[in-house]
Amino acid sequence: MDLAEIDLLEDTWARGVPHEAFALLRREAPVFWHPEPDGPGFWAVTRHADVVAVSRDPATFSSELGATFIDTQTDEALAQLRLTILNMDPPRHNRYRRLVSRGFTPRMIDRLVATIERRAARIVDEVVDRGECEFVEDVAAKLPLEMICEMIGLPEADWPRMFELSNTLVGFDDPDLRATPEEGEAAAAEIYAYCDAVAADRRANPRDDLMTALVQAEVDGERLTDLELNLFFVTLVVAGNETTRNLISHAMLALIEHPDQLRRLREDPGLWPTAVEEMLRWGTSIHNFRRTATRDTELRGQRIAAGDKVVMYYMSANRDEEVFEDPFRFDVGRTPNDHVAFGGGGVHYCLGASLARAEIRAIMRQLVERLDDVQLAGEVRRLRSDFVNGIKSMPVTFRAR
Ligand code: HEM
Repeated sequence: MDLAEIDLLEDTWARGVPHEAFALLRREAPVFWHPEPDGPGFWAVTRHADVVAVSRDPATFSSELGATFIDTQTDEALAQLRLTILNMDPPRHNRYRRLVSRGFTPRMIDRLVATIERRAARIVDEVVDRGECEFVEDVAAKLPLEMICEMIGLPEADWPRMFELSNTLVGFDDPDLRATPEEGEAAAAEIYAYCDAVAADRRANPRDDLMTALVQAEVDGERLTDLELNLFFVTLVVAGNETTRNLISHAMLALIEHPDQLRRLREDPGLWPTAVEEMLRWGTSIHNFRRTATRDTELRGQRIAAGDKVVMYYMSANRDEEVFEDPFRFDVGRTPNDHVAFGGGGVHYCLGASLARAEIRAIMRQLVERLDDVQLAGEVRRLRSDFVNGIKSMPVTFRAR
């Protein structure tokens, strides 16, 4: 393969992560100009140090100017996107992040851990004696969604509907799951209506939950508006759900494919903290986020013009030979492990990182301790997306231990 053959557009990803292309880019063109058929083109950033540098310099690399998705947005779409935390720059981002962080304090997360453990056990209870399951639907998908609904304080009867709505919202990239724009809008409107109802209730009857923390949060005398609350709620459903689900599926697949690492984990449960980090590095469930250069600048000697799109490839950074020893080895004891699965640091670092880590650990521990001889029982179907590293379905068989 040579640089002329590099293609990071959507169709490429249906076949899997283009590791060969990334390795070539890291080696020969770490800041690479990639053409787009329907757009101006973008800089593909594939080295760990550069992903970190771009993430930590929001004044030069803006999340707000062109938003954080590769595609060029219409002015109308941009106006909408800029209302959400992912697509804000400081100082607007500081205010919003300080407000919503009130719902993600260590105390909130600590309180949730017991619930996470209980729910993870229940999810595995339901499959353990069956000897087979569709892993994504029956296991991986459940805990992340349940925990978001739980944190928000949504009544349990509404959870299946929330699951459908969140699928409609995020499935836009895949022909199998594709929803029309109208369906997407209708799903968002229904989520807003849920959110309004829960918010109104918590204003009147405060509880110890995320929604109460959000409606009460106040920074410098300011609170979140109803619209900001709605959009945050949608962000959570989108950001906290598919990402964690896919990570859990990739983690299971990694253990199936690396039985020696599974054995190590069973023999030494002290490895769980490093194992979770390695699962995050290995499964990197978001491929990229984009920035837009606010001024002419340079990155690794490459000149970047004001207005250019700059795309950070997290999976590539997580296989960077300069940072990770033997990066293509799945090693549950890996230290150090400075992966960028939750972003390269800086102001947009994943707000849900502690929650996601607790979920991955709880469900994977249940699976490792209670299932034996897990094997693939059919095709692992990948999501066709250049944004989400998704697994759509993964049939498995196993025995109860
Ligand atoms: C394995 C699971 C997850 C992965 C891989 C992941 C990945 C990421 C990444 C890469 C970013 C950085 C975006 C940027 O730099 O532009 C991010 C931001 C964010 N994540 Fe996560 N995430 C995960 C789970 C969660 C969960 C469980 C939640 C919430 C319940 C969540 C909520 C958010 C929010 C709100 C932001 C935006 C933060 C900001 O812009 O200030 N994420 N996530």
